[in-house]
Amino acid sequence: MSPPRVLISQQDVERRVAELAADIERDYGDREADDALICVGVLTGSVFFLSDLVARVRDIPVKIDFFQTSSYRGGTSPGEVRILKDIGTSIRGRDVLLVEDIVDTGYTLRTILDLLRFRGARSVKLCALLDKESARQVEVPIDYRGFPIEDVFVVGYGLDYRGLYRNLPYIGVLDGAPED
Ligand code: IMP
Ligand code: MG
Repeated sequence: MSPPRVLISQQDVERRVAELAADIERDYGDREADDALICVGVLTGSVFFLSDLVARVRDIPVKIDFFQTSSYRGGTSPGEVRILKDIGTSIRGRDVLLVEDIVDTGYTLRTILDLLRFRGARSVKLCALLDKESARQVEVPIDYRGFPIEDVFVVGYGLDYRGLYRNLPYIGVLDGAPED
């Protein structure tokens, strides 16, 4: 098994995560613990990014929660996203930051953004490490974006191919891997 080709190095990922954390800290500013920023990740791909990001957002109180979703890919219902695990935090009247590893077609994030707004969050913003712009099927505004990338299948730093490669410290390309 040859290691995936480096697309974004560990050093570049770390630097960009620190920059995004600084932007978030600046924008969400001074707040009390009872108004903590709710950071919501989508399992499992976002766990590395989310934990590194919030570890650098030290000056504002944050809470962390997770959704788990699954989508029908290539089936008869493109864009039908199922919520397998809901968040347990009440977000009514709260500022929510959705943290994702990658925005591809956009269906997953569109579904979750709409749900969070429907539940009465004060604000919902999106922070995504990777943006596959050319693969987008539905519009999803990204407030904090790590890197735009080409429409290639990437792994590492949380992203998987059949459950593997999540533990790579860099973003790599698996040459020849089908997007199943
Ligand atoms: P979307 O609903 O098509 O935007 O898909 C988002 C989800 O698909 C991401 O959270 C990833 O789990 C997965 N995904 C999309 N592109 C890739 C990739 O290149 N590598 C690994 N997973 C991906
Ligand atoms: Mg994911």
